Amino acid sequence: MLDIKDLVSGYGSVRILNGVSLKVERGQIVALLGGNGTGKSTLLKAVSGLIWPWSGSITFDGKRIDGLRPDRIVRLGLVQVTQGKEAFPGMTVQENLRLGAYAVRDRAKTAAALERVYGYFPVLKEKRHELSGTLSGGQLQMVCVGRGLMSSPSMIMLDEPSAALAPQVVLDIFRTIHRIARDGMTVLIVEQNVRMALLLAHYGYVLKDGVIEIEGSAERLMHDDNVRLSYLGGTVANREAQL
Ligand SMILES: Nc1ncnc2c1ncn2[C@@H]1O[C@H](COP(=O)(O)OP(=O)(O)OP(=O)(O)O)[C@@H](O)[C@H]1O
Ligand SMILES: [Mg+2]
Repeated sequence: MLDIKDLVSGYGSVRILNGVSLKVERGQIVALLGGNGTGKSTLLKAVSGLIWPWSGSITFDGKRIDGLRPDRIVRLGLVQVTQGKEAFPGMTVQENLRLGAYAVRDRAKTAAALERVYGYFPVLKEKRHELSGTLSGGQLQMVCVGRGLMSSPSMIMLDEPSAALAPQVVLDIFRTIHRIARDGMTVLIVEQNVRMALLLAHYGYVLKDGVIEIEGSAERLMHDDNVRLSYLGGTVANREAQL
């Protein structure tokens, strides 16, 4: 469904992605892992057209999308939920969600998408008329994921949806992502919570120094010595101990 080949990109003249190749099959959940600052968000931004791919190709649903504008890519059914839980605090939950449907002109479709989002996140329905600025971190993340679903994409890219959330909320978010995928969504998920990501995903990639260092089934990565040492031993254990 998504096929990235030899992608090179960066900021200004600084090269961050040094030829990344990655595939996501339809209906799969794929995890993109890697340390801080290795270029995971940069990769998602290049795929969704927010930064320019310098070379290589990105094919989505059989069409080349590298070089297309972000709104065109959204219209083709590929949506990114950016890192950092951004929503307009002075707008209500429902207004923020509706922003995600800016590319959809059909009112019935938007209404149906809104109900679907409320089905996944009932607490957002309860709070639909409240200002987003009053939400907890977990609820704000739900708004961001929900907003991504509002254009009824066929694939969603999530950038660290569990970051800075309490363990119980993390579990909730992962369960819902699992449900969304089971309902037919293809998912590419960037995560620091490597253990949870590998439990959720079918396949995983590890990005290091702007290239894919390791890839394999989630099952294989979970037992890979390098992954265990670098991402499951130190980092995750420490993080869990801190929570
Ligand atoms: N807008 C920007 N302009 C210039 N450099 C940037 C910009 N955004 C990120 N970078 C740099 O690009 C590199 C990769 O950043 P990126 O955000 O893609 O990493 P990441 O893997 O998502 O990290 P994290 O796990 O911390 O989110 C970093 O060295 C970062 O400083
Ligand atoms: Mg990032």
